[in-house]
Amino acid sequence: MKALILVGGFGTRLRPLTLSVPKPLVDFGNKPMILHQLYHALVRVVDTLNAQLTEFSATQIEALKEVGVTEVVLAINYQPEVMLNFLKDFESKLGITITCSQETEPLGTAGPLALARDKLVDGSGDPFFVLNSDVISEYPFAELIQFHKAHGGEATIMVTKVDEPSKYGVVVMEESSGKVERFVEKPKVFVGNKINAGIYLLNPSVLDRIELKPTSIEKEVFPRIAADAGLFAMVLPGFWMDIGQPRDYITGLRLYLGSLRKKAPGKLASGAHVLGNVLVHETAVIGEGCLIGPDVAIGPGCVVEAGVRLSRCTVMRGARVKQHACVSSSIIGWHSTVGKWARVENMTILGEDVHVCDEIYSNGGVVLPHKEIKSSILKPEIVM
Ligand code: GDD
Ligand code: MG
Repeated sequence: MKALILVGGFGTRLRPLTLSVPKPLVDFGNKPMILHQLYHALVRVVDTLNAQLTEFSATQIEALKEVGVTEVVLAINYQPEVMLNFLKDFESKLGITITCSQETEPLGTAGPLALARDKLVDGSGDPFFVLNSDVISEYPFAELIQFHKAHGGEATIMVTKVDEPSKYGVVVMEESSGKVERFVEKPKVFVGNKINAGIYLLNPSVLDRIELKPTSIEKEVFPRIAADAGLFAMVLPGFWMDIGQPRDYITGLRLYLGSLRKKAPGKLASGAHVLGNVLVHETAVIGEGCLIGPDVAIGPGCVVEAGVRLSRCTVMRGARVKQHACVSSSIIGWHSTVGKWARVENMTILGEDVHVCDEIYSNGGVVLPHKEIKSSILKPEIVM
């Protein structure tokens, strides 16, 4: 079986992080987003989520083969070299082929399938997976295959319930049969609260519905398959989040760590300085008298000095938070520093290599890479 991951798009909503790397390489829970999908979804071994690849056992690779995914196509429209360089090592270790299908113009969410047609169709008639690259969930991959076979649809999409459906693709479905009656992308009026989770299993015939030009699978393809009574929806069990925007990224981390608490509590930090669910990379150093949590991820090589308070935040690889600083509801980008007694809060996003000076306050500052912040940011704004 094949899988295509929709990697393209410029990830503008996750700037300034995506000024440094393509969206799928932005760290989430101490691992680039795309590795969650490669490990979790395609390899179907939930508990290796935080394992290093070197710990990858033969049994797990066999599990992958058992699920039957042999090739992953990354549909990408910028910086393919960055992605391929990053993933080269993983190819052999995972025992699957990873290739790029590069667009010369953005082809939307369906056009890339037409472009990768030859890679997706191998004559076996098998359906193939399509994943949005910015969603995080438990990926019940095998169950999706079973559901698709049992319902005999042309396409099966996973759906989940949300409180604010207007920013997603909404599905109106017949509960008992799973048949989708309508698919409405970003509805202006309320049509329901079950939304497209961005995880699909499609028969090869879906490709006959897509031309090689910029096309939206949500607006132009799914509504037509639904009209032909061939679109089915499986309700996704467990947590789900589109982490393509900072606020949702922070909420997504809470859900993800909550799921780790249930599935692999040993991965989470413990101790008197830890509150709730906290992930600390084994190479990170935490000083005396800190209070960390809930819902914090501290990446490889980070240094959190004495007396620091962290909550609902991500501190990415190589960052340093100096003594007595307080960081909440924020993302500290790679190799950035937060000065002594600084207070960083309310969706502050520091790009790569940003330096916040001592005693500075940031209320929702979005700071581009390589900046030094010498005066406080009193209200949410972009600092260029
Ligand atoms: N290759 C390629 N080319 N990929 C693209 C392009 C493109 O031109 N445009 C977007 N993508 C990728 C994005 O990187 C992302 O992985 C996926 O397609 C969906 O695009 P988003 O921009 O993240 O869409 P969205 O979040 O507004 O809505 C989509 O996801 C929701 C769930 O998170 C839709 O599929 C909704 O129906 C869905 O509910
Ligand atoms: Mg998205």
